[in-house]
Amino acid sequence: MNQSVISITRRGAERARAGHLWIYRSDVRDAGRAAGGSVVRVRDERGRFVAHALYSDRSEIALRLLTHREEEIDREWWRRRLREALARRAGADAEADAYRLVYSEGDLLPSLIVDRYADVLVVQTLSQGTEAAKEMLTALLVEETGARSVVERNDVRVRVLEGLPMSAGVLYGEPPATLEVVQHGVRFEVSPLGGQKTGAFLDQRENHLAARRYARGRALDCFTFNGGFALSVASACENVLGLDVSAEAVSAARRNAELNGASNVEFREANVFDALRAMEDAGERFETIVLDPPAFAKNRASVPAAARGYKEINLRALKLLEPGGVLITCTCSYHMSEQMFLDVIAEAASDACRRVQLVERRTQSRDHPVLVGVPETLYLKCVVARVIE
Ligand SMILES: C[S@@+](CC[C@H](N)C(=O)[O-])C[C@H]1O[C@@H](n2cnc3c(N)ncnc32)[C@H](O)[C@@H]1O
Repeated sequence: MNQSVISITRRGAERARAGHLWIYRSDVRDAGRAAGGSVVRVRDERGRFVAHALYSDRSEIALRLLTHREEEIDREWWRRRLREALARRAGADAEADAYRLVYSEGDLLPSLIVDRYADVLVVQTLSQGTEAAKEMLTALLVEETGARSVVERNDVRVRVLEGLPMSAGVLYGEPPATLEVVQHGVRFEVSPLGGQKTGAFLDQRENHLAARRYARGRALDCFTFNGGFALSVASACENVLGLDVSAEAVSAARRNAELNGASNVEFREANVFDALRAMEDAGERFETIVLDPPAFAKNRASVPAAARGYKEINLRALKLLEPGGVLITCTCSYHMSEQMFLDVIAEAASDACRRVQLVERRTQSRDHPVLVGVPETLYLKCVVARVIE
């Protein structure tokens, strides 16, 4: 195969050798005539082979490394990588029929996301490289999984950084408008071509189950989306109230409550910031509270403002908890490290004059594996805490 060669700086080569899969544009010395979206050979300043990589001629992430091995990146190479990712999910079907099959860098398939919703696959090709390989990847995914249909949910902003259009549509077969999936015994209706993300927040699946172990009494699920936490804890609680600012999310959550015959769960359209304050004023109390807001910190610069937002909701929630009550609190901001988040919780506890035990520290579901050396693959933090006084 006639591959273009791209030479990178010493700093870039060191980063690659330390295990990261991204080389920034500032570390590209000479891209030669490499075409955006192609698979290239990467070499260091001394001409030594570093890796095969996907090249982007637009993004600040110029190179996404595929392998440090000298091997041919042909159709069979991609098939092997997909098979390996699928094999790592063996056994997942016993727990759920909706989960992430391919988690980009975490599965050494940078910029490729594949989610499974029963027999429908939802794909995201987030760089010029995986976009160029989309047709082949779709065919391979159908061959390897026997999926009935494949849709793309490429209506995400990161694609703009690659000079790619935002688009959603069918890549293979005829997907149903809605379908039902089961996660740890709870049924959800999903619309592969509608809804936020690729249809559901699969990264929280195992935390939904973990929450069930701790939840009891009167529960409040803030930022509920389609009712993931609320419906998961319903069987362990007297009653559950789920809140979301989106009318669309609230009606989806209500449909899911019906689907599960969960008569002790109620969903309301509300801004959580306002609702928590109003409930405090009204003297309401809960034994379980879940906080799972959208990412408040989208970049490093917004971390201080985000920390104030996280502190506000955690402080209010701690005040609303009965002694012995449990807080399950999350951040999906990569820029908010676990330590920063724990500091925010500590400040909130101090301001709320509550004594709080740290019961468990969790992260994203295991089908979103964290790759050592690529810190960006770890973004979700979920802390279980108990108010003891
Ligand atoms: C990370 S998602 C929640 C996922 C959900 N907890 C789950 O486990 O599937 C964040 C949700 O917060 C909602 N949201 C954003 N800002 C809000 C606000 N100020 N008040 C209430 N809901 C909000 C969004 O509509 C979205 O559904």
